[in-house]
Amino acid sequence: MTDLTTRWLGLDLHSPLVVGASPLTDDLDALKACVDAGAGAVVMHSLFEEQLVAEQMAAHRFIDSRINMDAEARSFFPGSEMFEMGSGSYLKRLKRLQGALDVPVIASLNGISPGGWIQHAGELENAGASAIELNLYDLATDPADTAATLEQRQLDVVRSVVEQVSIPVSVKLSPFYSALPAFVAGVEAAGARGLVLFNRFYQPDIDLDQLTLSRELALSSSAELPLRLHAVAMLFNRTGLEMAVSGGVHTGDDAAKALLSGATVVQVVSALLAEGPQALARISDAMSRRLRGIGYNTLAEARGAMSLDSAPDSQTWERLNYARLLHGWH
Ligand SMILES: Cc1cc2nc3c(=O)[nH]c(=O)nc-3n(C[C@H](O)[C@H](O)[C@H](O)COP(=O)(O)O)c2cc1C
Repeated sequence: MTDLTTRWLGLDLHSPLVVGASPLTDDLDALKACVDAGAGAVVMHSLFEEQLVAEQMAAHRFIDSRINMDAEARSFFPGSEMFEMGSGSYLKRLKRLQGALDVPVIASLNGISPGGWIQHAGELENAGASAIELNLYDLATDPADTAATLEQRQLDVVRSVVEQVSIPVSVKLSPFYSALPAFVAGVEAAGARGLVLFNRFYQPDIDLDQLTLSRELALSSSAELPLRLHAVAMLFNRTGLEMAVSGGVHTGDDAAKALLSGATVVQVVSALLAEGPQALARISDAMSRRLRGIGYNTLAEARGAMSLDSAPDSQTWERLNYARLLHGWH
């Protein structure tokens, strides 16, 4: 497949492969190399709602800790100064990237409660962001907070951000919703244009030797992809929102599967942090070859061909096969 052009959130992209939100935002040379390697767009790391900063910084202190990667890969991995967050420095970075990269630059906002911070959305638009990715990273820890309250609060945030700007807004979700399609319908009604599926949660572990909590972040593997494929395949044709897969894309086959499930674009982070920008060229070539080999000439033909509506054995996406699968285990 030679023509990889696509449209995401109304933006023309020359490739469906997108650099996902990550510390790479702070390394212009690495981002330029990603664009040379075929990235169709770049998502900046998040600007956080002020109230969340302390909490999020603690959660993200893994940056300084033991990420599993070799020395060469570490050179693509900027230090923790990215987390000194004020909108001023973020906007400066956005303008710099916007001027230096000839692909759309998507800014990322991360917050969970309606409030003054939402005005950052307008600042991002004024600074030249092509779109906003709104990350609803929310962990319910208060027993008084019901799912309904929490979801309504999230939808209020989506609506407030959408009302602030005229650029498109996509919403990055966690996989943990009891009724994802219903929530997605709410996101669409609130005026968003796209979904990014899914957030990858930072999960502390227990260090039994030190009896402390460990803050390591393991990069993803392809094993995390099927959760995304399933969600996208189920939602395809059931939402007017365009969909991006984020999480577990490491190979050309992974990217091809995401598109066949129904994604319009595919975000990559861990593979870039582990391997450097050339990972994108590798994934792009292999994805292209694979899709052409199956017989697709355009991304539009491939998109959703393995979704719940279209896969030849699509009931496999549904729960029907669950009991059979378990009982068939040897
Ligand atoms: C070091 C690191 C920093 C990240 N920072 C952000 C961020 O600021 N905002 C955000 O929405 N996602 C952030 N993410 C999540 C990624 O955008 C992505 O959703 C996740 O890593 C799954 O994709 P992957 O399997 O390709 O890594 C970060 C991920 C990593 C590894």
